[in-house]
Amino acid sequence: MGTKGTGIVKLDVNELIADLNRAYADEWLAAYAYTHMAQIVEGRPAAKFLAEALKEAAEDELEHQDELATRITQLGGTPLADPSKLVETSNEGYPKPPADAKDFDAMIKTVIEAERGAIAVYDALAQKTFGKDPVTYNLIIHILEEEVKHEDDFESLTR
Ligand SMILES: [Fe+2]
Ligand SMILES: [Fe+2]
Repeated sequence: MGTKGTGIVKLDVNELIADLNRAYADEWLAAYAYTHMAQIVEGRPAAKFLAEALKEAAEDELEHQDELATRITQLGGTPLADPSKLVETSNEGYPKPPADAKDFDAMIKTVIEAERGAIAVYDALAQKTFGKDPVTYNLIIHILEEEVKHEDDFESLTR
């Protein structure tokens, strides 16, 4: 880690690393759930469209976990190494897909709830890092913008 780069962080760095690791776990779990739903969704012609939307969002979540991992290592931390700890480490738990692969509404609801949770998490992190850690703040804002877009994209499917 860069000494000066970490030295300018006016927050408890270990606490910040723990916060970022919780978000890191959320991102993996969302990517897993969305990918899984994209793989099983069926039943109507629109299933292909929903699968595409789920895959696109999953790709964004994978990008988010990677960006968070980069920041965690820069701060001298280690991204969560044990996948069996993802759920307990996460803020949000696993966004459990519905059992029925034909239940579009339940799938979309699962995504919207996960996105709303993510928005709350990143909003809190933005407030925490504002004026204290510009590098993490910028990353959080970038991710927050995409979570806001995800919520809107999936809400628009219900209108
Ligand atoms: Fe995300
Ligand atoms: Fe998202």
